[in-house]
Amino acid sequence: MAIGRMYNTAGLASAASLFAAAALIGAVQAHNQHKVIPEGETVTKEPLDSITWLHIFIQMFAYGVIFPIGMVLGITKSRWHVPTQAVGSALALVGFFLGHAHGGRQYVGGNVHSVFANILQLLLVAQVVLGLYLKGHWERGINGRIRLLIRPFHSVIGKAMPLLAWVQMVFGGITTLGFCQGDHLGQCAAHFIMGGAFIAYGIVLTIILLAGQLWMRRTGRSQEFFDSSVIAAWGCVNTFTEHRWGSAWVRNDWQHTTMGIVWWCAGLAGIWLSRDRDGNPKRNFIPAFVILITGWAMSAHPQELMVSAMTHAMFGKTLMAVGVTRIIEIAFILKDKQSLDESGRTWNSFQYIPVFLMYASGFLFMGATEEQMILVDAAGLDGVSYTLILYSLAFMVFLFSNMLIHLYDRLSTKEEGGKYSNGHIRLNGNSNEEGRLRDAEEFELEGLSDEEEHDESQRMLNRTARASTDTPSTLGRNNLASAH
Ligand code: HEM
Ligand code: HEM
Repeated sequence: MAIGRMYNTAGLASAASLFAAAALIGAVQAHNQHKVIPEGETVTKEPLDSITWLHIFIQMFAYGVIFPIGMVLGITKSRWHVPTQAVGSALALVGFFLGHAHGGRQYVGGNVHSVFANILQLLLVAQVVLGLYLKGHWERGINGRIRLLIRPFHSVIGKAMPLLAWVQMVFGGITTLGFCQGDHLGQCAAHFIMGGAFIAYGIVLTIILLAGQLWMRRTGRSQEFFDSSVIAAWGCVNTFTEHRWGSAWVRNDWQHTTMGIVWWCAGLAGIWLSRDRDGNPKRNFIPAFVILITGWAMSAHPQELMVSAMTHAMFGKTLMAVGVTRIIEIAFILKDKQSLDESGRTWNSFQYIPVFLMYASGFLFMGATEEQMILVDAAGLDGVSYTLILYSLAFMVFLFSNMLIHLYDRLSTKEEGGKYSNGHIRLNGNSNEEGRLRDAEEFELEGLSDEEEHDESQRMLNRTARASTDTPSTLGRNNLASAH
């Protein structure tokens, strides 16, 4: 125990000193830039050197692959969490040095990527320090109370990390290319924020489909209630922010503002339709329809370049396809139910279509700013190839999200008598302790009602069946099916 404590303190000190050293070296390096940046530009003309490339790959791997996996391992309290995040942090440290040590192309000082890097780096240091404290497992007395305070911080920063890393990667991309300066800033922000929001919504839909069907049912509201509320709120904001009311209407003001208006009008209708005549949650077509009409409207901006026109058209079609397939899914595949079956553990292959297309439209939109289109055009890339590249990226992120959710699903149910208990639907931490507590409560309640008795005995049966064969037998599922 004492050795463990010493180890932790030593680890803490050495991690802190390493990061301090890195910060110092960074400050020195920042003053060593000799190359001249042309007037009005933010980058020199040289190609990227291999250190920059290494930086890019290592950071993308650490922040984009290792940390998200580690996050899931943390949420599910796997013993692999600490080793995984330790490897991730070590890689991030190497990436940090490389970021400061690069030659080749030079960038204007105080660029958004280097500014945000500091914030991200500080958060990572904090995360590691807090993590090491938690790892100490000092759970008694004053330390126990401090631990209670520290846990939520580690938890929130840990879950925000993939999102912040995503932002930093986008910043990295635009810094490398010298994009999004001056007049381009507004357009960049619009494309990256909205495109990112589409991808985020795709991820949320994936989580709900794969792991959250029962959770959604337990909220007592239809999914469209939440979607419509967000749409209405967002529309409201856009109605007032896309145009300075009282001044002249310029450029695309009309389109952006009317889009805001239709969003809140439709959103309100969607909220209304999310209950049936008896007040039960009810599915509806509104959010999907808003996506459909948004796709139509957004792809109608006139474009100058051929490749740009094609990318925008494909974006519009993809987003409209999300809307259409989502309406078909809700009305005809699910027949207005929240899930295909009671267990909430299954789905129809069709249900993946709107979900995936959401990612694809996000990537198409993120890849369609004016500057990007000029770059693509200059490289002689045609619209079809460019679209295929963006679809490939969408597939990669879609696959990775599926893998992470699967990992979560597997790990969060392991200790609770197999996947046939409803453990997998808990989306936020605390799974195992809480699960055991609830199991105990349910055990005490056994026999109170016929249905519950049946249910509990099935659960125990499943557990025994699973323990004895240790393979996911279909026995549990069959029993469950016959129980209902
Ligand atoms: C390398 C240093 C790290 C150590 C020693 C560490 C340690 C821990 C420990 C002991 C827990 C369990 C807390 C508890 O059950 O009370 C935990 C949870 C967690 N960690 Fe870390 N961690 C580290 C880095 C990270 C990083 C870099 C991230 C994110 C990118 C992260 C994300 C999380 C998350 C999301 C949880 C789940 C918290 C919850 O229950 O909601 N950790 N960590
Ligand atoms: C989340 C992952 C990333 C992190 C944490 C990160 C962090 C850093 C840090 C700390 C620096 C040094 C900043 C400075 O000079 O003050 C840096 C520089 C740089 N990074 Fe990243 N980076 C990440 C991803 C990327 C990506 C994906 C790209 C490109 C696509 C990129 C391109 C660059 C470039 C070009 C520089 C040099 C900037 C300059 O000299 O001012 N980085 N990065």
